[in-house]
Amino acid sequence: MKRLIYVSTASENLELSDLKAILDSAVERNVSKNITGILIFNGLNFMQVLEGAAQDVDEIYALIVSDTRHSGVITILSEDIIQRCFPNWAMRLSHVPTDAESTSLDLSEICGPMELPQQVPPHVSQLLKSFNTLKS
Ligand SMILES: Cc1cc2nc3c(=O)[nH]c(=O)nc-3n(C[C@H](O)[C@H](O)[C@H](O)COP(=O)(O)O)c2cc1C
Repeated sequence: MKRLIYVSTASENLELSDLKAILDSAVERNVSKNITGILIFNGLNFMQVLEGAAQDVDEIYALIVSDTRHSGVITILSEDIIQRCFPNWAMRLSHVPTDAESTSLDLSEICGPMELPQQVPPHVSQLLKSFNTLKS
């Protein structure tokens, strides 16, 4: 199996309905391909963890990279794994607001807080927790 983490910048005109649509199609396809992970949004950037069979992760990532609802997709981690960090989440959206929050969207309806499962290894939790500092 493979774990892939990327960051990207949301398109300027992203609306709540876009986030809902992203989440709906993500959950549907991820369930069918047995892909798990987390999608974190801070009002400007996304960070996403994708885990699953290498070929499936690569296929979904190719779709994600060409999605016009965000841009500047940069892979920050790609590694072989034996165990998933997020075995129970087909895709969970977490909102991590920052001081420089640039969105006026009310995301509480579709987002949970960022709670990391115990099995998240330190190098992954470090990346997820440092996500805020990526925002300029
Ligand atoms: C930030 C972001 C994260 C996404 N995450 C996923 C994902 O985890 N799984 C997925 O299938 N699609 C994801 N998508 C959507 C894909 O880019 C693509 O639009 C979608 O798979 C097409 O699905 P559809 O054929 O059901 O419309 C994401 C899109 C964005 C912008």
